[in-house]
Amino acid sequence: MGISSVGIADESKYAIATGMKDKERLVILNEIYNSSSLIFFQDCNIPKGARVLELGCGIGLMSQCFALAVGDNGYVLATDISEDQLQLARSLLPKESISNLEFRQLSAFEIDTLNQQFDVICARFLLVHLQNPQQLIQKIKKILKPGGKLIIEDITSNDTFYSFPHVKGMEALHHLDKLQCEIQKSDDKYFASFPDMLQKEGFTIFSIRKTQPKLDTPTKRKSILFHLLSLKDTLITNKKMNEEECSQIYQKIQELEQTPSIEIYYYELGQICGIF
Ligand SMILES: C[S@@+](CC[C@H](N)C(=O)[O-])C[C@H]1O[C@@H](n2cnc3c(N)ncnc32)[C@H](O)[C@@H]1O
Repeated sequence: MGISSVGIADESKYAIATGMKDKERLVILNEIYNSSSLIFFQDCNIPKGARVLELGCGIGLMSQCFALAVGDNGYVLATDISEDQLQLARSLLPKESISNLEFRQLSAFEIDTLNQQFDVICARFLLVHLQNPQQLIQKIKKILKPGGKLIIEDITSNDTFYSFPHVKGMEALHHLDKLQCEIQKSDDKYFASFPDMLQKEGFTIFSIRKTQPKLDTPTKRKSILFHLLSLKDTLITNKKMNEEECSQIYQKIQELEQTPSIEIYYYELGQICGIF
C-alpha cells in the first residue's frame, strides 16, 4: 500500500512510504541505530517493570528491544498512525518470546484518548517529521507519571549525512532531504531546540547524547537507494520531480552506493531524555 493510504495526521504530513513498500529501508535503519537506542534507554535507568509508550513505532523492531529491556513485568504499548506499518510490526513479532508488547494504531496527537499514564514515553524519528513538535510534547506530559521520562531520538541535521570524499551523489541525497522537509513543512534541525523546548514544558534534562553512524556494510550502504524509493511517490504526487529526474538521481546515488572506497556517514542520531 502506498503513501496515499497512510492517513496523514492532522498536525503532520508524513512524506515517506509505509508498509511492505518501505520494509527493507526500515529494517536497515533499525540495524544502523538500534544498538545506540538501546544503550541510551538503559543509560536512562529505565527499571524492569516500567510501562512504556512508544510513538511512531514503525515496524516495531525497536519496540521489541524495549519490551525485552523492561522484562515480563513491564509493558510496552507501541503506536503508529499507519496500519500498514503495524501489520508488518505484528508479523515480525516473535510471540513465543515477547508477550508484554502490544501494537495499536493511534496518531501521536490522539494520545490523550488512551486514559492511561506511563513511566516512559519514547519517540524515534517521529518529531522530525512533524510541523509542530512542541504541541506533541504538551500532550505527552499529560500522560506521563510524575517523575516519568520522555526519550526523544531524532537526526540532529540533514548535513550530518555526508560522504568522504564529497561526491555528486551526496548532493542529490541532500536535495531529496530538502524536498522532503518542504513537503512535510518540517525542519531537519529541530533537535537543537529540544533541550529548551523540554525545559519550557517543565522537564528536567536527564541526558543528551549524539552518535554518528557509518554505513560500514554493503547492506547498510543500500539504505541510500531506499531513501529515494521511499520518497518517490510523494515527490511525483507533489510535483517536486518527474519520473525522469528520479531515475537520473537514482543513477547518481547508485554510483555512490557501489563505490566502496567512498565512506558514507549516515545521519547523526541525537538522543535526549527529560524527566517530568
Ligand atoms: C521514520 S519512521 C520511524 C519508525 C520507528 N520509530 C523507527 O525508528 O524505526 C516514522 C514513523 O512515524 C509514523 N508517523 C508519522 N506521523 C505520525 C503521527 N502523527 N502519529 C503517529 N505516528 C506517525 C510513520 O507512520 C512511521 O512509521
